[in-house]
Amino acid sequence: MFDKKKICEYKDYLKKNLSKKRYTHSLNVAESALALAERYKADKDKAYVAGLIHDVAKELPTEKQRKLVVNSKLNVSDIETKATPLYHAIAGAELIQTEFGIDDEEIIDAVRYHTVACKDMSKLSQIVYLADLISEDRDYKDVKKMRKYCEQSLEKGMLEALKFSISDSVRKGNSIPCSTLEAYNDFTLLYNKK
Ligand SMILES: [Fe+2]
Ligand SMILES: [Fe+2]
Repeated sequence: MFDKKKICEYKDYLKKNLSKKRYTHSLNVAESALALAERYKADKDKAYVAGLIHDVAKELPTEKQRKLVVNSKLNVSDIETKATPLYHAIAGAELIQTEFGIDDEEIIDAVRYHTVACKDMSKLSQIVYLADLISEDRDYKDVKKMRKYCEQSLEKGMLEALKFSISDSVRKGNSIPCSTLEAYNDFTLLYNKK
């Protein structure tokens, strides 16, 4: 589905539109997503590409991101239209369609939900969400723990990641998108069933 030429085209675009640090992060997330896809038997091609392009819109001027968000036909919550750090996921899901001609719903969703997660997340979306948190360049306090959770299962990884994200938002007094809470409820049920 994605030949070498396409991947090179995406990398060239990212190199031109992202800082060196963000470009390296993108390559690392692609590698982590590929490793998770191998481990959990998901589509490796799609995982690599979705990981590679997940932050494609991250360094666009905020106003450009905002325009992409408000004009998006994707499902966008009120909270997301007010939180600038969340714009780039929706803007990115729009850009990969217009810039790269990607029409694969799973890849579009994986990019769209890599910040906030959602109900009934596909395996690919879980992989990209987690790959973003455990990529080689990540060095936050509990990253080693997070990598271990991701080795246990995708569900455990997602559950712990969402616990962290939600408690962090509560601590900072930030709003929590409904889709994040829905994802959390999904994974508590799934994980506790095991
Ligand atoms: Fe991101
Ligand atoms: Fe990222």
